[in-house]
Amino acid sequence: MPEQAFKAGLEDVVANTSDICFIDGQEGRLVYRGYSVADLAETTSFEEVVYLLWNGDLPTRGQLLEFTRSLSANRALARPVMDLLGSLPTDTVPMDALRTAVSLAGIYDPDGQENTPEANHRKAVRLVAQVPTIVAAFQRLRTGKAPVAPDPTLSQAENFLYMLHGSRPKAIHARVFDTALILHADHELNASTFSARVTAGTLTDIYSAVTSAIGTLKGPLHGGANEAVMHMLEAIGPEENTSAWVQAAMAQKQKIMGFGHRVYKTEDPRAVILRRLSKEVGEDAGDLKWYRMLNDVRETVLHAKKIYPNVDLYSGSVYAEMGIPVDIFTPVFAVSRMAGWTAHILEQYHNNRIIRPRAEYTGPTHRTFVSIDQR
Ligand code: ACO
Repeated sequence: MPEQAFKAGLEDVVANTSDICFIDGQEGRLVYRGYSVADLAETTSFEEVVYLLWNGDLPTRGQLLEFTRSLSANRALARPVMDLLGSLPTDTVPMDALRTAVSLAGIYDPDGQENTPEANHRKAVRLVAQVPTIVAAFQRLRTGKAPVAPDPTLSQAENFLYMLHGSRPKAIHARVFDTALILHADHELNASTFSARVTAGTLTDIYSAVTSAIGTLKGPLHGGANEAVMHMLEAIGPEENTSAWVQAAMAQKQKIMGFGHRVYKTEDPRAVILRRLSKEVGEDAGDLKWYRMLNDVRETVLHAKKIYPNVDLYSGSVYAEMGIPVDIFTPVFAVSRMAGWTAHILEQYHNNRIIRPRAEYTGPTHRTFVSIDQR
């Protein structure tokens, strides 16, 4: 029999050790490899953060140059992957398109089934490089536009917005999007990363592990919450309805999307930064309506239930101001989280033991067998 008592949702259960990411849920602090995400968001690029998550240290200038070159050289999709994106029904849920395309990309990866550390590192580079291309290409194809080829002179953040819109982004959008990518890059053993590690723990290939993670991120209790926040703003309608709408929803025991967290007992530090970015992009657009509405939602929920915003409350409004369609917010989350998923998968391979917990059996134990003729 299992020795430990069952914890619903594995709450506070420590399932592995990891050097990658630390969350102090009481203090509201998020740390990648020892560095506060607040410092990283101020001073580094997404590319530096990916390097840090994978290698444990920030890159030197030379290392960063070599790394960004390898990312930009690997952005193009294999022809069958692009063909698949063009063949999907236009009403395909974008996360389903992403999950299917990533799975197919694994079949065409030049390293095939080779699972050495070197091959897995090359595959991780291709995944981080190509997922933005998949998300942008599917968005264009489903709206009747031709995909835009990646521009190797642009950063990951700039290039994604460029491939999505077909024009170079404004400097403020490139900077804010880069910061959003950093903030979403990793988050310890969240549900999708746990899926990735469980899958990798069987020593299957990295594409299989990442495909599991994408399916897990899709759910509205996880990565899907940022889309749900924008649907909530649409449902609220006029700005002055905000507080009353939220109070009515809470009275009906509805969960308010973008609030609550299994680990944070205070405001998610990513939400604090995204609130500032939401204001910046709103001011730039000359329209702070969403920013004001989200602040009203925040005040109302905090006052009534003392439940704090999480990363998803403000990210949607930031993306929407950049012209990113609401139903690709979760794939955009995956563009960033691919960094963390791959870091955790590489760590899992490095020190692997298959992840195989027990269940507390709650069914009957000694039933008398009855043959089929007598049932
Ligand atoms: N709105 C209203 N009440 C809430 C909310 C919320 N968003 N979140 C938690 N609560 C309440 C619950 O109703 C529950 O109250 P009760 O004890 O009176 O029944 C209590 O707080 C604990 O909530 P649980 O759902 O049990 O907490 P859990 O740790 O299992 O879930 C989760 C965490 C899934 C994030 C939850 O807070 C939630 O559903 N939030 C809304 C969805 C969301 O924003 N998800 C994004 C999370 S961040 C990310 O994944 C990227």
